[in-house]
Amino acid sequence: MFYTDIHCHIIPGVDDGSYSMELSLKMLQREYEDGVRSIILTPHYRIGMFETADEVIRQRYSELVEEASRILPDLSLYLGREYHAHTDMLPDFYEGSTRISTMCGSEYVLLEFSADKSLSYIKARTKDLLDIGLTPIIAHIERYPCVVFKPEFVSELHTLGAMVQINAGALTGEDGWTMKGFCKKLLKEELVDFIATDCHDLKRRPPNLIKAVKYVEKKAGIAAVDRIFHENPMMIIYSSEE
Ligand SMILES: [Fe+2]
Repeated sequence: MFYTDIHCHIIPGVDDGSYSMELSLKMLQREYEDGVRSIILTPHYRIGMFETADEVIRQRYSELVEEASRILPDLSLYLGREYHAHTDMLPDFYEGSTRISTMCGSEYVLLEFSADKSLSYIKARTKDLLDIGLTPIIAHIERYPCVVFKPEFVSELHTLGAMVQINAGALTGEDGWTMKGFCKKLLKEELVDFIATDCHDLKRRPPNLIKAVKYVEKKAGIAAVDRIFHENPMMIIYSSEE
């Protein structure tokens, strides 16, 4: 089985992820060695912090696709976005009837929050997107103090219509045993829709999907691996091609 990484910062020079084409290609190589064959590249968009112009992102993305096709011809790359939520964000998602700032033009939005936001704030932004026909994927949900160690709150967001992404490293113990325990509980309760690397480089936050794949297989079975690392990510990609 081949896997898809839906959250990573591999496009060179557009955010706090890869700083060079050389590093980006090495990161892609590492993803490939882990069995990844499709990647949605998700540069940050955050007002006042990451505001790289769309044309620049598209240009660097095209260059990366071209370079990658030479060394990894069967690796598919797509352009997404990790969007930092705020109260006036809705105009950023449509240009006329064309979707923008979503995951490769699909109805899915990888939505990130500041650590100080409350559960009611996250719910409100979730509803904002659902109301305009978009589906939020809450990025690394384990990072938000208002929901961490509270699976019942994650469940509330799930029931509301949000999808849930956790980082591979959090599940495999890179953020400590307590965090690992929380992520394992979410997995057992089928509250995890996606597990992604959120990789930024090769050292501090490297591509690390395969360890999480093996962990999920051991704890939740092959059907869970298929759903989390293949079926759900493919749902985004197919929806982008409609
Ligand atoms: Fe990220």
